[in-house]
Amino acid sequence: MAGVAIPSVILKGCDKAMPLIGMGTSSYPPADTETAKAAILEAIQAGYRHFDTAFAYGSEKPLGEAIAEALRLGLIQSRDELFITTKLWASFAERTQIVPACKMSLKNLQLEYVDMYLIHWPVRLTEVISRTPVAAEILRPLDVKGVWEGMEECKNLGLTKGIGLSNFSCKKIEEVLSIAKIPPALNQVEMNPLWQQRQLREFCRAKGVHITAYSPLGANNTKWGDNRIVESDVLANIAKARGKTTAQVALRWAQEQGVSIVTKSFNKERMKQNLQILDWALHSEDLEKISQLPQRKGLNLASIMGPHQLVLELDAEV
Ligand SMILES: NC(=O)c1ccc[n+]([C@@H]2O[C@H](COP(=O)([O-])OP(=O)(O)OC[C@H]3O[C@@H](n4cnc5c(N)ncnc54)[C@H](OP(=O)(O)O)[C@@H]3O)[C@@H](O)[C@H]2O)c1
Repeated sequence: MAGVAIPSVILKGCDKAMPLIGMGTSSYPPADTETAKAAILEAIQAGYRHFDTAFAYGSEKPLGEAIAEALRLGLIQSRDELFITTKLWASFAERTQIVPACKMSLKNLQLEYVDMYLIHWPVRLTEVISRTPVAAEILRPLDVKGVWEGMEECKNLGLTKGIGLSNFSCKKIEEVLSIAKIPPALNQVEMNPLWQQRQLREFCRAKGVHITAYSPLGANNTKWGDNRIVESDVLANIAKARGKTTAQVALRWAQEQGVSIVTKSFNKERMKQNLQILDWALHSEDLEKISQLPQRKGLNLASIMGPHQLVLELDAEV
């Protein structure tokens, strides 16, 4: 059976349109290569064409293997049919290390280019780390100008079709915009009915920076998320009224806000369910109820890096 056709968005400074729904590949506990690869192949069959990975997730290699296998199996005719996003890890967020880091990700992915390369977090680590939290001594503020120049070099060398940001506040985006020759195409941030990011979205809309919502289901059953979305009575009641699941209500809500979504499921039925959000709409009273939900950020950098002053300041920025 043919998969669902997912609409795309044209992004500033990006040479390829990005499918509005992408499959996340950060799993908890970390999936072994075969499990991740099988799930990605299943997702391609279901219609996913946008995959979100990062050096830090350890999922670049299984994604690369799955893409090669999908081509061998004829699930896709050409690599160009896929939109692949990966991210610069903080340990390589230094002017001279960015092109080599991007090339390392391309090697992991067995690709000549990615479609989107993002700065994962607006912070630098002076060491390559194997575990978190990190020591305060290795944390540095991001050299925004140097790092963005390195990202632009990746784009100019054809290593990526577009460049962008992740977990950047309005203040940090403003810094990038003030020095950018190539504007950031997007900012990938946590966004869901319980962390709606109204201020950041308004700012990004005014500046022409697209938003991609990560953890749209609240990253339930992971170390960095919780079950507040999937167990929300308000969302469950809306779901019941619309004949949908709570997860579909959360995803549809994000979709209706004009953002793109990356959500992760390695389960065949749930990954299909998560695509069934395009041919129906929430009612105005549903949107009104969702707008009243109490807001609380799920993922803080401090929970990854440790409660260091620099990190706490970044977490506090909107
Ligand atoms: N830029 C960043 O800093 C950043 C941070 C976090 C995430 N991300 C990216 O965004 C992607 C998505 O975010 P996320 O993984 O944090 O969280 P998420 O997509 O909100 O939630 C994923 C969790 O929800 C479960 N799930 C999926 N579909 C479901 C459904 N229909 N009903 C109930 N449960 C469902 C998944 O389990 P099953 O697999 O068992 O279905 C998994 O445990 C990541 O994989 C990653 O690629 C980026």
